[in-house]
Amino acid sequence: MSRIKFLKEGFKDMKTTGAVTRSSKALCQGMIKPVDFSKARLIIELGAGDGVITKHILKSMHKDCKLISFEINPRFCEKLSQINDSRLTIAADSAENIGQYVESIGAKDVDYVISAIPFVTLPNELGYDIIGKCREYLKKDGLFIQLHYSFLVKKIYMDIFNNIKIKFVPWNIPPAFVFICKKD
Ligand SMILES: C[S@@+](CC[C@H](N)C(=O)[O-])C[C@H]1O[C@@H](n2cnc3c(N)ncnc32)[C@H](O)[C@@H]1O
Repeated sequence: MSRIKFLKEGFKDMKTTGAVTRSSKALCQGMIKPVDFSKARLIIELGAGDGVITKHILKSMHKDCKLISFEINPRFCEKLSQINDSRLTIAADSAENIGQYVESIGAKDVDYVISAIPFVTLPNELGYDIIGKCREYLKKDGLFIQLHYSFLVKKIYMDIFNNIKIKFVPWNIPPAFVFICKKD
């Protein structure tokens, strides 16, 4: 998808898209840096957009690892469906339904959740619901990795996870933070 088309999607639905441009290469790399791809066998992506982070994940993923990518915008889902990789399942659904997708592939838990959902522009209760459910499905020591452009909703992560590290990625428009939350 071109930058202009992404920009249009952003303006059409600013609240759920939360950005007017896709993540930069540096931000995509920052989002997957904490992942140990040699061990991960199930990764969940939330808010896949047109697939820019999805492609970085797939490029590094083990051949036996599965990726379930959630996205609610049908135009982005159409774009995602063009990615030809049997390890990828596209969930054209809201992230709070994570449980039914994890269970449908016979899995009990998840190694990593990588999320770009703009929780700042969504109702706080939805943020608590989605992030709380993700924590439930994460393995012990699993990571919830989230991108943000500010610290406005940091409290949600502090309430749900005790162990949080934040990395700054200057090479993105706007500069971004990667929240790395561990289930311990
Ligand atoms: C900031 S964009 C990120 C797109 C892409 N991952 C990137 O990094 O450039 C956020 C995406 O989250 C999606 N989204 C918002 N709420 C969602 C929800 N409840 N479940 C799944 N996806 C959601 C939006 O449609 C949008 O595509």
